[in-house]
Amino acid sequence: MSQLQRPRRNRKNDVIRSLVRESAVTPQDLIAPLFVREGMNERTNIVSMPGHARLSIDQLVLEAKELFSLGVKCVALFPAIEDGKKTSDARETWNHDNLNLRAIKEIKNALPDMHILGDIALDPYSSDGHDGLVDPKTGEIINDATLEALARQALASANAGVDILGPSDMMDGRIGYLRRALDGEGFHNISLMSYTAKYASAFYGPFREALDSAPKKGDKKTYQMDPANGREALREATLDEAEGADILMVKPGLPYLDIVYRLRQHSTLPIAVYNVSGEYAMVKAAAEKGWIDGERVMMESLVSFKRAGADIILTYFAKEAARLLQK
Ligand code: PBG
Repeated sequence: MSQLQRPRRNRKNDVIRSLVRESAVTPQDLIAPLFVREGMNERTNIVSMPGHARLSIDQLVLEAKELFSLGVKCVALFPAIEDGKKTSDARETWNHDNLNLRAIKEIKNALPDMHILGDIALDPYSSDGHDGLVDPKTGEIINDATLEALARQALASANAGVDILGPSDMMDGRIGYLRRALDGEGFHNISLMSYTAKYASAFYGPFREALDSAPKKGDKKTYQMDPANGREALREATLDEAEGADILMVKPGLPYLDIVYRLRQHSTLPIAVYNVSGEYAMVKAAAEKGWIDGERVMMESLVSFKRAGADIILTYFAKEAARLLQK
């Protein structure tokens, strides 16, 4: 039968499929989030994130070396701060000898070309488990006083050697505030990857278990975005651009691909997406049960981020995916 249009011709074999393929994932697109703990030679498995552990700094350096050799050249660090060091003013955040800053220095020492994304938010250090300072009377998350604390965190991380800072706190005005604080100290080369559209999501559950950082009271809905909103992400993006962000991020990933796509249309800046802990846990759990093919679901998820328009993917699959891509 004659049919002018037969889209299947472009799918008829592997060679033609590769020729017409529109998007691809490479290890260089990936950022690997890693969890850090105190101690030596320690790897504490994170139950809800199979394959991930809280690593003591020596083990963290080994992990970073392996990632680098696989082509993953940026890691995001998340420190598990000991309970005794968490306070309501989160002052451990800028203690120059804290776990996070020691980890940054040791990785940079061992691997000068590995890029480090330092998270900016108070929650790992806060006895309240919030990203900002909490008003003890009203329970309000105080925006402007938090900015000052975040700037201290940013400068401490800059001094330790981070390459990129990722403000994940969702306070208003933080990108401009941090840019000015960094420039004021001569750190004009440190990039800001803004968590532009960070949603108040249940997909962060395993991460909060890993850091024991869940809010003690209330939730994060007065600063993280409402999952029902899309247009609001464009407002945040416009502000972040004007305040000097270098890269815009969407978080979580898979349930928010429409936001990735809309930011891609809206902005000329690079777009990053965070494939978060709960997304990872779901794939791992279903694969463990034999209900899905975990490797294929992983690669399909990652390429969907590229198709939606993301340039950069933060993912707990980074090592596994990079290994697979090397084959
Ligand atoms: C904290 C922060 C969170 C994540 C990254 N930075 C948790 C939160 O906002 O409660 C979540 C990452 C993940 O779930 O993988 N500022």
